[in-house]
Amino acid sequence: MSKAKTSRIPGFYNLPIEERVRILKEFAGLTDEEIELLKKVGALDLKTAEIMIENVVGTFPLPLGIATNFLINGKDYLVPMAIEETSVVAAASHAAKLCRAGGGITSTATESIMIGQIQLTKVRDPYGAKMKIIEHKDEILKIANDQDPILVKLGGGAKDLEVRVIHSAVGPMVITHLLVDVKDAMGANAVNTMAEAVAPYIEKITGGRVYLRIISNLADKRLVRARCIVPKDVLGGEEVVDGIVIAWAFADADPYRAATHNKGIMNGVDAVVIATGNDWRAVEAGAHSYAARWGVYKPLSVWEKNENGDLVGTLEMPLAIGIVGGATKVHPMAKLCLKILGVKTAKELAEVIGAVGLAQNLAALRALATEGIQRGHMKLHARNIAVMAGATGDLVDKVAEIMIKHGKIRFDFAQEIIEKLKRGEPIEE
Ligand code: MEV
Repeated sequence: MSKAKTSRIPGFYNLPIEERVRILKEFAGLTDEEIELLKKVGALDLKTAEIMIENVVGTFPLPLGIATNFLINGKDYLVPMAIEETSVVAAASHAAKLCRAGGGITSTATESIMIGQIQLTKVRDPYGAKMKIIEHKDEILKIANDQDPILVKLGGGAKDLEVRVIHSAVGPMVITHLLVDVKDAMGANAVNTMAEAVAPYIEKITGGRVYLRIISNLADKRLVRARCIVPKDVLGGEEVVDGIVIAWAFADADPYRAATHNKGIMNGVDAVVIATGNDWRAVEAGAHSYAARWGVYKPLSVWEKNENGDLVGTLEMPLAIGIVGGATKVHPMAKLCLKILGVKTAKELAEVIGAVGLAQNLAALRALATEGIQRGHMKLHARNIAVMAGATGDLVDKVAEIMIKHGKIRFDFAQEIIEKLKRGEPIEE
């Protein structure tokens, strides 16, 4: 019987890169070629880049880290995160460890329903036009589905219509929402093709004029919902739980804070969205428009204290991501990251990303409600300087600690400490 896989890897951050890669290879069953790709700093070759966008002159690499400890819906994940900001991967791993103590994160995503908008104008009787569109729903859905027989065969395709009359600065408009199940794709291509295809028919039956035919990034029919319980003792007591709840209440009451609160969530969400070759602008647009759906900008998560005094966190947000189409199957690193995650569907990927967003938020709020975030940043910075100065193994943390204690995080000081420690000399207070 094979050994159960675990993402709980104590001290992963202290290991040399080769050792981390070895562990990852074993966890995700990566081939030697895939390992070579990981090691290659410029894994995206120019030929592939040219297929992806126009006017290519080069590529733009980001660091790729692996967040450990994630237990989501009872399954262990090592999570690839592409991000330029220090501390994010460490924070996600730390929070995942805290959540693990409470049984891990539960995450559920809805079906992959995306919205295509068709903007009808120049109708004298907008409500009459609305009814005509609804009366011809079957024909409209058929025209839409004729565009993508493969998606329909997979069980997806245009499923329903919603029609609204809105009152704009230039008069009433009849807005049709084509609801399309895009299955494992992000869906923009499928939805936009369908929206363009049904437009002439809508014009014909209403006598109006269609202008825009495009996907809506407010993907409020494609949501992910994540939940965790963190035992109070793991967090450092009920006072920390209270601090986190108070931090959330601040965000709930103040859009200035809510923006930063949500930015912390998006640190985790975007890093995985980018690593898997997905459209992070679409995800960002969806997240923030959803946060403002009641006319006031709100946090995407809620933090509460349960009857045992433990922390309960929940997150709900739109998440339009795919595992087929776009860069997900073209970018070699995106393909590799999907393999590392081992996700089988876009729904599963959304569940992982939602869980990462919740954990990232927890990490930030815990730090903010206790020691502040600078200490963590300084620690990482000091560790980097210690490694640059030649520290290895246990020495890394020791040198970093001494530099922080002295308030002197400098290369020359790190070298001096290493020399003294090697000679067994004391370091002045
Ligand atoms: C920094 O990238 C993210 C935080 O500002 C998030 C937050 O304040 O909740 C730490």
